[in-house]
Amino acid sequence: MGSYQIMDHFYDVVIVGAGGAGLRAALGMATSGLKTACVTKLFPTRSYTVAAQGGMAAALDNMGDGDDWRFHMYDTVKGSDWLGDQDAIEYMCREAVSAVLELEHYGVPFSRTADGRIYQRPFGGQTLGYGKAMVQRTCAAADRTGHAILHTLYQRCLEHRTAFFIEYLALDLLMDAAGACLGLIAWNLEAGTLHRFHAHRTILATGGYGRVYFSCTAAHSCTGDGNAMALRAGLPLQDMEFTQFHPTGIYGSGCLVTEGARGEGGYLTNAEGERFMERYAPSARDLAGRDVVCRAMTIEINEGRGCGPRKDHILLHLEHLSADLLHSRLPGISETARVFAGVDVTREPIPVLPTVHYNMGGVPTNLHGEVVTSRRANPEMVVPGLMAIGENACVSVHGANRLGSNSLLDIIVFGRAAAIRAAACVRPGEKHAPMPREATERALSRFDRLRWANGNSDVGGLRLAMQLVMQRHCAVFRDGSLLDGGSGQLDEVAARLRGDLRLADRSMIFNSELVEALELDNMMSQALVSLRSAIGRTESRGSHAREDFPKRDDQHWLKHTYCWLDAHDQSRIDYRPVHLKPLSNDIAAIPPAERVY
Ligand code: FUM
Repeated sequence: MGSYQIMDHFYDVVIVGAGGAGLRAALGMATSGLKTACVTKLFPTRSYTVAAQGGMAAALDNMGDGDDWRFHMYDTVKGSDWLGDQDAIEYMCREAVSAVLELEHYGVPFSRTADGRIYQRPFGGQTLGYGKAMVQRTCAAADRTGHAILHTLYQRCLEHRTAFFIEYLALDLLMDAAGACLGLIAWNLEAGTLHRFHAHRTILATGGYGRVYFSCTAAHSCTGDGNAMALRAGLPLQDMEFTQFHPTGIYGSGCLVTEGARGEGGYLTNAEGERFMERYAPSARDLAGRDVVCRAMTIEINEGRGCGPRKDHILLHLEHLSADLLHSRLPGISETARVFAGVDVTREPIPVLPTVHYNMGGVPTNLHGEVVTSRRANPEMVVPGLMAIGENACVSVHGANRLGSNSLLDIIVFGRAAAIRAAACVRPGEKHAPMPREATERALSRFDRLRWANGNSDVGGLRLAMQLVMQRHCAVFRDGSLLDGGSGQLDEVAARLRGDLRLADRSMIFNSELVEALELDNMMSQALVSLRSAIGRTESRGSHAREDFPKRDDQHWLKHTYCWLDAHDQSRIDYRPVHLKPLSNDIAAIPPAERVY
């Protein structure tokens, strides 16, 4: 076992993660006078938000099509397959407009219309007049919107003296015996030292866990560390059965080709050259909800109409678009297609395949970003001291399927909401509660278990085994026997991880093997919870398409899943009803209906 000296730091608030959600929260907290720290395993501008391409939805109506936040709310509820909470969705869609304008004032270099307004493009499932026609709602900075937002927010945070702890890997939350969060413990990868952060609010903003799968658009760093820390703190994760596939990951590499490509006029064809989306979504066609497009692509491939020698992918056409448009609106994906598919988009189509892209599930929160206990007696009761935002959280605004360009929106709106809440609840400089010794000991005992692991299985092999199980058994289409088979196999991999892992490097300084082991341990918990939540939900809704239960079943399943996982990988599942009432009387509740595009 290691014996460690731990450095203590005292802040009003500490944020884990420096993507868009973390930085927007940090900026709001720092500007309201709170002593703010941001702990991040990556340099902030390398966070995965940097890769977000197509844009951020907000009913600005800059393109003159008569847009309104109510239409946006309707689309989001319908996109979520009615699993999204309508109060939180109203909040997000109403706040969208001011959130984008605020970013503009911070200096985000959005693309512009001829008369100088923020340019907006069409995106999947974003419509006008409650589904009547497609709308241009997605605010874009070419196809590098996340990059533009992330860099701007980081510069603003520096201006307001946020303290950044860069290349610090958060290990665990520090909870007291009553279940309140008092801070966290992190490992400084460069110096090899351990650090305890005492804070009145700890905000998890660590992003998604796409790397649980073999093929995903997400960065290798997307290992869902915050979700796993919440599970180890005895909290549940919500709606983990809902994993979004993006229709256009580049065949082979999985790199994202933005939905903005179809928004600008791109389209999909099968091996027969047919624009098959016309059969599946006669109105919205290639711009239907992502789950709809992914299922259509998978059916085309499964029925023998896939492209290429192995008939295993679909083609995305942009070659009919003008070189000017490709250069000004889609420069990033033109380059990505050249590098990762060897394709010149001005001349030939890009081979694409549905690829894991987003996790609708996460740590359950209210619309202020406060984590809720989810206990049956009082599911809305807040966990003292703990907040979660962005892909790490489940508010739930995306329900069973997120609409494209609602993710950048989510991170900004709820990053800001969390900052407003923290500013209202925390008095700057307030005294910190005493930290119980056991909290640190628990975290260190897990750290040591992995650091000194002495079995026979290496990290890379176990990670690949987990990813292949998830890719095969918990993909676009599922059924009971496929999921059960996957669950058995995953249990075996998890048992090997817990009991037979071997690390060759025990050092503390830039020990990337130990980092990967800690991340794998985090991912495994989320994989287990995702598969088990998927087994539990015996209906099809949004991204959860069960061939043995092909219909949505509102009578029994209009409810959110909660899944807890104990230290022995035993899980417990419970449910809570969806919030079907909006926040205000400015819009009527949107009753469940058949979801057609
Ligand atoms: O297609 C895209 O640009 C991705 C956007 C999103 O996931 O919101």
